[in-house]
This record gives sequence, C-alpha cells and structure tokens, in this order.
Amino acid sequence: AYPFYQTQRQENPIFALQENQGHTSWIVMKYDHVKELLKSQSFIKDQDKLFSTSARDKDEGEPNIFGNMMLDVDPPDHTRLRKLVQPSFNPKTIKQLAPRIEQIADELIEEMKTKEGSFDLIDDYAFPLPIIVISELLGIPVEDRDKFRKWSNTIVAASEQEEGDFLEDVQAFTQYLTELFEKRSNQPEDDLVSQLIQTQEDGDKLSRNELYSMVVLLIIAGHETTVNLIGNTMYALFEHPEQLEKVKADHSLIPGAIEEGLRYYSPVDFSTARWAGEDMDFHGTTIRRGDFVMASISSANRDEEKFDRPEAFNVERERNAHVAFGFGIHFCLGAPLARLEGKIALEKLLDAFPNLGMDTSTTPPAWRRVFLLRGLDSLPVC
Ligand code: HEM
Repeated sequence: AYPFYQTQRQENPIFALQENQGHTSWIVMKYDHVKELLKSQSFIKDQDKLFSTSARDKDEGEPNIFGNMMLDVDPPDHTRLRKLVQPSFNPKTIKQLAPRIEQIADELIEEMKTKEGSFDLIDDYAFPLPIIVISELLGIPVEDRDKFRKWSNTIVAASEQEEGDFLEDVQAFTQYLTELFEKRSNQPEDDLVSQLIQTQEDGDKLSRNELYSMVVLLIIAGHETTVNLIGNTMYALFEHPEQLEKVKADHSLIPGAIEEGLRYYSPVDFSTARWAGEDMDFHGTTIRRGDFVMASISSANRDEEKFDRPEAFNVERERNAHVAFGFGIHFCLGAPLARLEGKIALEKLLDAFPNLGMDTSTTPPAWRRVFLLRGLDSLPVC
C-alpha cells in the first residue's frame, strides 16, 4: 500500500474512489490536507444532517448499539457526550492506572514464561493487556473478554462478514449489555458504566441508545487499536534490528519507539472519514455537499513534505507530529491511555525477555484483512 500512497500523494493527492447515487467518495492523501479536513467545520460527521436516513432512532424498539456514538456526531451533541467521559481519560487520571497496568503486564509475562520459550505476542500479550484495562475501567467482568473480542472483531470486520453472523453477534452483544446495565442500575459500583447510567451532576443523562453506543465505542476503540499499537511497534522493531538493539540498550527510547510505531504502521490505517456539509473547492477539487471524504492517516504519516525520510523507521525521530490519533475535536479520547499501555507493555516485555526475536520457524506474520485498521493476526516470538 505505501508505494501506492506515495505515487498518489505526488500525482493525484485528492482522488475519487467511487460514485454512488450522485455522490462521490474522495480520498485525501497529503498531511496538510488531512489535518485541514479533520479540523474544518465544513466537513461533518452526522449524516442525518444531509440525508434523512436517521440511524439515530429515539430509544424505540431494540437498543441501537451504534446509532449514537460521539465519533459520529457534531457539536453540540459531540461536546455533550465527550464531556461525560473526558475526565476519566485525562492524562492525570490515566497516569494513576500505571501500577495496575504494570501488574497486568507482569502477570501476562509470568504466564508467557511457562510456555517454554515460544509464544504469540498478539494472543498472549498485546490483546489481553488493553482488553483487561478497558474492562476494569468500565466495570465489565474480565472473564468475558473472549466474548468481546469475538463481537468487536465482527463489528470492525463488518464489511467482510456474512450478514447473518454479524446480526447474531450484535444481538448477543446488545443482550449482554442490557443485563450489565440492569445490574449496575440496581447496584452501582465504582466504575465508568455505573457512572454513565446515573444522572450527571449538571442534570444531564444519557439516552438509552447513547449509553449503549458509548460503552460499545469505548470497548472497541479501547482495545482494537491498542493491540495493534503494541503488535505493530514490536513488528517494526523486529524488521529493523539495529533500532531494536538501541531500544533494548536504552529503555528511555521506548516512548519514541511508540510514537514512531504509531506513525510508521498506523493502527487506524487507511482512513477516517467525514461528509462534506457544503459545496466547496478543496485545494482545486470541487467537492459537493453530501460527498464522503476520507482522510488517509497512513499516507499523511508518510508524507515526504512533512517527515524527513518518511520510509525509515527511526525511534529517535525528532518532531514526530503524526496524525495517528486524528486531529481536531474528535482527536482520540484514549490517546493518553494507549500511550501509557504501549510504553509499559514494551518496557516490561524487553525487561523480561532481553533476547526476544521473531520466531522464524513458523509461518511469517500476516496483516489482518480488516478495512481501515492495520494489525497482525499473530506474531510468533521466541
Ligand atoms: C477517536 C485512533 C486508542 C477511544 C480516535 C480517532 C483516531 C483514533 C484516529 C479519530 C477518528 C476521527 O477523527 O474520525 C486511536 C489509536 C489508538 C486509540 C491509533 C491506539 C493506539 C484508543 C483508546 C480509547 C479510544 C485506548 C479508549 C479507551 C476513542 C474515542 C474516540 C477516538 C472515544 C472518539 C473521540 C471523539 O469523537 O471525540 N481514535 N485510538 N481510542 N478514540 Fe482512539
């Protein structure tokens, strides 16, 4: 994909992907354009303002677990929803989780040590770590983590699933949450789900669908991408042994390695999108109200006009202003948590296994075939 992105950036930086019912889908490749697109109020998230599809039903019938995500709405709804969860994800609050994240990493490593030298970095480490952390934060029983993995994998791979499987998993997920919300409203605990169910101090209360959507968004966003951050960064280090040696010798380079991992193999890979809220000229391209416009995060993060030698993986890169967490008002809520988890995960792993390398005796790692996200199915190491 990366050589294609490079050619497009130079020859065709804003190009039409397809036409559908009179509307064009565009993809924007350059760093500056991507930032402008993500920041501009002319591009919006809420398609209900453009088409009367109304996915956002008003709490009638079955709960809609996707309909009211903050990720898919604009101010003032977005401001209101984000304000409810922002305090739980502030860098200061997140920092307090460090001892518990370290403990989880230690426990996973203890288990890995029993596996006689060879294990899978994704299944045994990169996946369980963030899902345990987000489950504990929300107050969801950690034993159920394999169920979430299945449901959330189904949801992020929606376009490649059989419709029947998809609906079945969504129903099971909805049912699970209904039971959880009932329990927590009868008996609140000291967790985010209980807090979100209650009326807030300023009198605000989430609607039923907002509550389902918020918890589903946090579960999916809270682990799908962080698994990839840990897996992708380790994979990039294995591909660049001289960089791996530097990091092993000096752990103060780990935060830099995480940032470079985010830039080089961005977990939200192909794009994140907006709708054009009005007709406009965007850097010489005529875009019409209702067009779908995708910002290519991985292309922006390898833009030679922004990054010096963008194709090089360099843990000591200076001014690494990547857009892996997006930009503007939808900038990733979980960025401080993802960064902390990534840092602790790498520190603990490299401490425990100073000679860690890829296990070349098995099939080479393969990228998961999930549109939009970049991550490995497995990463055998020894
Ligand atoms: C938004 C990436 C981890 C929760 C975003 C966006 C990106 C992103 C690119 C912006 C999407 C857009 O503008 O359309 C990532 C990456 C992660 C990560 C690369 C890990 C390496 C997390 C974690 C959580 C989280 C750990 C929560 C626990 C969210 C939420 C939003 C968001 C709630 C929506 C924010 C809003 O609409 O205001 N993320 N994310 N993310 N992320 Fe993350």
